[in-house]
Amino acid sequence: MKELIRKYLQEASRFEATGPDELEAYRIKYLGKKGIIPELFSRFRNLDPSEKKETGKLINELKELVSNRVREQKEKLETTHSQSSAIDLSLPGEPYQLGSRHPVSIVKNEMIGILQRMGFTIAEGPDIEDDWHNFTALNFPLEHPARDMQDTFFIEKNPDILLRTHTSGVQVRVMEQNEPPIRIIAPGRVFRNEAISARAHCIFHQIEGLYIDRDVSWADLRQALLYFSKEMFGKDTQIRLRPSFFPFTEPSAELDISCMICGGKGCPVCKYSGWVEILGCGMVDPNVLASCHIDPKMYSGYAFGMGIERTALNIYQIHDLRLFFENDIRFLNQFKSAI
Ligand code: DAH
Repeated sequence: MKELIRKYLQEASRFEATGPDELEAYRIKYLGKKGIIPELFSRFRNLDPSEKKETGKLINELKELVSNRVREQKEKLETTHSQSSAIDLSLPGEPYQLGSRHPVSIVKNEMIGILQRMGFTIAEGPDIEDDWHNFTALNFPLEHPARDMQDTFFIEKNPDILLRTHTSGVQVRVMEQNEPPIRIIAPGRVFRNEAISARAHCIFHQIEGLYIDRDVSWADLRQALLYFSKEMFGKDTQIRLRPSFFPFTEPSAELDISCMICGGKGCPVCKYSGWVEILGCGMVDPNVLASCHIDPKMYSGYAFGMGIERTALNIYQIHDLRLFFENDIRFLNQFKSAI
């Protein structure tokens, strides 16, 4: 019997479990109710007393060895198991999604950068504006169609409060609070009560510019716009100013640039005219200066305002304005390299 136990001792000490099932089978084989060790103990009872001492020692040795082995192997399996599930170096890495700037932001940042280099600083005003800053101080007659419910989102309970229809109202806020010289730009979101289509949206972005000082002239305006256009659209860009009307400027004009796509030869972007309209501008109307407590006899100035989406549409030759607002990743990803 001692020989048999020694054989078990050897066998049991060599055991290495490759999984929990195998380990459990090993435990049952030796320690289970009908296992080897209980069986040895029952045989031990019938042994000759002279044999008992040594045999008993061997059985206890076997029991201890198997118990230790089960405990050790269990711990080993648990740590290798948790390690392998936490870090599997053969798995592909977590994909790291790089974002991209929105095309409207790219164009806006570029415009801001150029205008800042020209000496303009950024001013801000609220999206929710009052009638005075959006219309009245800007010389809009009471019956002007822009005040109409068709174009403006009014706040129902108080028609004096509205969502600004342009960034020109920031001019008023700045002039009310500052003495000339004033040289600011106001980028921001504007709102119009318009049907959404490929060319129009109820939310879009503008940048307003304002320069007020002594003796500011039309030539200053023209030169500033020429410099801006060349920086923004390329050094060969030509400009032309077409007479126009805005209540807050007199005289007023619209600025066209030679088409940034075809250089003036004619293409779908310029509708084969060679020219693309970029912004509205003019000399600040004396009524506006007076409304903001700036003496029109002492000071003059120019202002301009441009739509950012419209320019982005032209630069990137996008045919539908709505794409800017849908946040479709497939569309936005195309501007990764443009940052
Ligand atoms: N506020 C005008 C618009 O939303 C754009 C504009 C035109 C701004 C002429 C100006 C300006 O400052 O002088 O259509």
